Amino acid sequence: MFTVENTIKWLTIFAQKIDENKAYLSNLDQAIGDGDHGTNMARGTAAMKTALTEKPFDTVQDVFKTAAMTLLSKIGGASGPLYGSAFIGMAKQSADTASDLPAIIQAGLEGIQKRGKAEAGDKTMVDVWLPVVDALKHKALSKELIQSKVQSTEAMKAKKGRASYLGDRSTGHIDPGASSSGLLFESMIEGGVLNE
Ligand SMILES: Nc1ncnc2c1ncn2[C@@H]1O[C@H](COP(=O)(O)OP(=O)(O)OP(=O)(O)O)[C@@H](O)[C@H]1O
Ligand SMILES: [Mg+2]
Repeated sequence: MFTVENTIKWLTIFAQKIDENKAYLSNLDQAIGDGDHGTNMARGTAAMKTALTEKPFDTVQDVFKTAAMTLLSKIGGASGPLYGSAFIGMAKQSADTASDLPAIIQAGLEGIQKRGKAEAGDKTMVDVWLPVVDALKHKALSKELIQSKVQSTEAMKAKKGRASYLGDRSTGHIDPGASSSGLLFESMIEGGVLNE
């Protein structure tokens, strides 16, 4: 289950991983987009990390709300509103209880899909979020699974976002948003969320 402590730990690890992989994520975006995904994400997650240290949090919902607002306002691009919508969905779902992990991540996925309309196989972050929700329902989430889902976007043709303008030329490259979402869920494992 999510607690205030492990949620903050999760998101702080996420911010660190994004910072470490900033250049890598922008390189991925250089191949099929405009090369800004790493800097967009690093700007947003750095602001989120700071915001999470600035006041005490009483509930998991408050942590998710603060994350949503900083990501939404600071990431920019296409992925800012998408990550923002994910965290707004997770905040809403954790209003009563933060114990149902799959339901909370599923609410995040629904936020992304409501805003971006991407389906499985469209070569977006949805191609990581969907199988992660499924794995959580079966208590089968692992870093290996996350990595394989990130990797699976390489062979896909982009149907949404900037990369879709490339058509067939978008194949052969890992999707940057799928990669950053992979870091999000690896951080969740490292934050100990699955153990509590
Ligand atoms: N409709 C969508 N649904 C889900 N994810 C999407 C969608 N469109 C784009 N993405 C994700 O966003 C990532 C690109 O994010 P990035 O921060 O680079 O924004 P951008 O496309 O450069 O934005 P902008 O077009 O405003 O410059 C993609 O790799 C993909 O995973
Ligand atoms: Mg981009």
